[in-house]
Amino acid sequence: MTPASLCQLLAIEYPIIKAPMAGGADSPALVAAASEAGGMGFIGGAYLSPQQLATDCAAIRSLTDKPFGVNLFVPETPPAYPSNTRGAVTALTPFCQALAIPAPVLSHDQGQSFDQQLAVVLDSGASALSFTFGLLPESAMLAARQAGLTLIGTATSTEEACLLEQSGVDIIIAQGSEAGGHRGGFSNSNPMIGTLALVAQISAAVSLTVIAAGGIMNGQGVRAAIQLGASAAQLGTAFLTCPEANIPASYKQAIFSSKAEQTRLTRAFSGRYARGIINPMMEALDAQPDAILPFPWQNSLTRPLRSAAAQANNADYLSLWAGQGLELARQLSAAQLMAALIEELNA
Ligand SMILES: Cc1cc2nc3c(=O)[nH]c(=O)nc-3n(C[C@H](O)[C@H](O)[C@H](O)COP(=O)(O)O)c2cc1C
Repeated sequence: MTPASLCQLLAIEYPIIKAPMAGGADSPALVAAASEAGGMGFIGGAYLSPQQLATDCAAIRSLTDKPFGVNLFVPETPPAYPSNTRGAVTALTPFCQALAIPAPVLSHDQGQSFDQQLAVVLDSGASALSFTFGLLPESAMLAARQAGLTLIGTATSTEEACLLEQSGVDIIIAQGSEAGGHRGGFSNSNPMIGTLALVAQISAAVSLTVIAAGGIMNGQGVRAAIQLGASAAQLGTAFLTCPEANIPASYKQAIFSSKAEQTRLTRAFSGRYARGIINPMMEALDAQPDAILPFPWQNSLTRPLRSAAAQANNADYLSLWAGQGLELARQLSAAQLMAALIEELNA
């Protein structure tokens, strides 16, 4: 599919997608600005309660009547509640002391209900549902289809892309290893294939439309992805430094002052591999891998600490998700960034 036909499918003007960024970075203003400029904004809904997701989608709708999308995590049966959390709690205690909060206690909360979130999405005015960490259950695919949503899955290898194609999705995101945030794949091996190699190979392996993600920061990058066989590009890190992105100033500062080699994959914050800027908490926990619980338990255990760090604007204890393209981050509003991306793409 050409970029023009992808734009037709999604009813957008430019093949530029603002990536979903769950965990606080996304705001309705950020999502709406990308859509309003003729690209497409996605809201990362995975950590939002159904009520909050409904409120945010309504807010996006009030800001733009252009198409937008929602992103959810594929529902999984979590590993059993850890029988011993002492090591994980001990490892986090010094950081809690530094932030003057109590040592964490692991709750039994497994996160939001996917079914309730999906019910909100079906009725939200969104026109696309993207998802990550696997294949959607058939019942969810069916419900989304009946609601007229375009279905977009995430692959980090050609094998995952083929499985997504067989499952009946419309579009595949090829997420290269440069990408900021969680690795969206579902192979046990966590393949670390760069965007350039991945996009070309997935585009050759499947007959579906491909969206490239990972390390793309400007319109030249979007063009390069299209040259490789993608029909559009999805950018996350590029939007994190916009004023509309809801992250602490110290996080934005860390993006502006870090080099590409200062990001790496870690399980420290959530128990699942994600790329972020190296900080003291990441270094300390990565040095004691046995003290990191599996997802979603580590995510749950570190949440109060990360919230307190955000309140205190302290980047030492935040998950500073960012991709390897961060040296090209710009200080522009989301509308200005979109205008620059479009100009560079068309140059
Ligand atoms: C802060 C942050 C949060 C993210 N959250 C999600 C998410 O909730 N769902 C998802 O599919 N991808 C998520 N991603 C990954 C993006 O969708 C996308 O693959 C990635 O940002 C592309 O790489 P780039 O950051 O180099 O542009 C996140 C990325 C970042 C930086």
